[in-house]
Amino acid sequence: MTTRGNGRTTGHRVAVIGAGYVGLPTAATLARFGHSVVLAERDLAKLETLRRGLSPIVEQDLDELIAGGVASGNLSFTESAVEAVKGARFVFLCVPTPQSSDGSADLSFVEAAAKEVAAHLATGAIVVNKSTVPVGSATFVEQVIGRSDVSVVSNPEFLREGSAVLDSLNPDRIVVGSDDTQAAAKVGELFATTAAPLIVTDATTSETIKYASNAFLATKLSFVNALAGLCEEVGADARDVLLGLGYDKRIGFEFLRPGPGWGGSCLPKDTSALLHIAKEAGYDFSLLAGAIASNDEQLARVIGKVEQMCGGSVTGVTLGVWGLTFKANTDDRRESPSLQITGRLTELGATVQAFDPTVDAEAEPREDLRGLQLRADPYEAAAGARALVVLTEWDEFRWLDFSRVLALMAEPCIVDARNLLDPSAVRRMGFRYTGLGRQ
Ligand code: UGA
Repeated sequence: MTTRGNGRTTGHRVAVIGAGYVGLPTAATLARFGHSVVLAERDLAKLETLRRGLSPIVEQDLDELIAGGVASGNLSFTESAVEAVKGARFVFLCVPTPQSSDGSADLSFVEAAAKEVAAHLATGAIVVNKSTVPVGSATFVEQVIGRSDVSVVSNPEFLREGSAVLDSLNPDRIVVGSDDTQAAAKVGELFATTAAPLIVTDATTSETIKYASNAFLATKLSFVNALAGLCEEVGADARDVLLGLGYDKRIGFEFLRPGPGWGGSCLPKDTSALLHIAKEAGYDFSLLAGAIASNDEQLARVIGKVEQMCGGSVTGVTLGVWGLTFKANTDDRRESPSLQITGRLTELGATVQAFDPTVDAEAEPREDLRGLQLRADPYEAAAGARALVVLTEWDEFRWLDFSRVLALMAEPCIVDARNLLDPSAVRRMGFRYTGLGRQ
């Protein structure tokens, strides 16, 4: 890093390949940290939005961070990965690593990106694997690049969608791993303006930390969801049980909210990938297999609650659904438990009227929404419904006019798969209500 006479850092030249949910906040954050970042994105519509200083994804404060980066001159965009890496000291690969049919991570995008830029990298450049990649991927990328002057460093990302900017600017930790320790340390220095502890390790360990973190979080949630189910059976109040757990500093309050099952583009993919890695290594990770199976049971448990609320079956029944994204504050519906549940309810013969604040009911529905009756507001989704199912925890649902909802519905029944609403308040209004783990 170079320092100007006035003590301000001018930063390094950084290229980021891929403007997705990881690449975009990474690029904007590195620009904020004072580095000169060129972000490469092939999707021309996305690129156009970015050039206007706007975020193509729903993410709190990301618009401002992008606009700030553009205004400072630290953040620019290009369609060409080759163009982006020219003269860059650091090249972050932030391309997707989708799940293959056998549960392993598909590295074809990483391979293609590495191949594309290999010959154009500056002498001594450091390539950073930011995408979640299988153990051994740093070596794989090194081989694809095939240049002895270029080092590859694993630097997993831990940001959450919905709070990506906050998480990127204030990370809990920075992990860097490489067989070239100096290169790893240099990548760590890019984040020196944060107070986050730095873990410098080898590539295999760094790659394992990423999978282990997501698998642990998924296991924690499976435990919480199963515990909520048990609370219902024994008559305990899961909210208070979890409060009692959370005050133990070793457990903590984060990630203790029961829900319809964990989803999104990361937890399901990464737990399956870690299970695959374990299987390949001949290791029986039955605990993780149990956490995954328990997540499927949670979806079934929520569907069972809806059926019960409708007198045993949803066949021929109209249901109102609030929330389609995999969690609130994002427009991401990949591996959304809401869509898995609405899909199964539709298969069972229900008509599902759905509302989500990020879904335009008028637009041609994307493939994943086919079969749903999309509605323009939450009241329209509830109109004529036999039961209302809350599947995503959008805060705005809590503040609706529930007397209006009650008047619109065919039956006053609510299944709250996020424990979002106040049970006594809605019951006082005349609703039948069921949540998770509470009476
Ligand atoms: C997850 C991890 O939390 C991040 O640390 C990681 O960087 C990211 O994956 C990734 O690998 O890229 P994310 O997928 O954005 O982040 O979502 P989470 O906030 O972890 O939520 C995952 C699922 O768990 C969602 O379906 C959410 O609704 C559910 N959840 C979360 C609950 O049901 N209850 C909770 O208390 C928390």
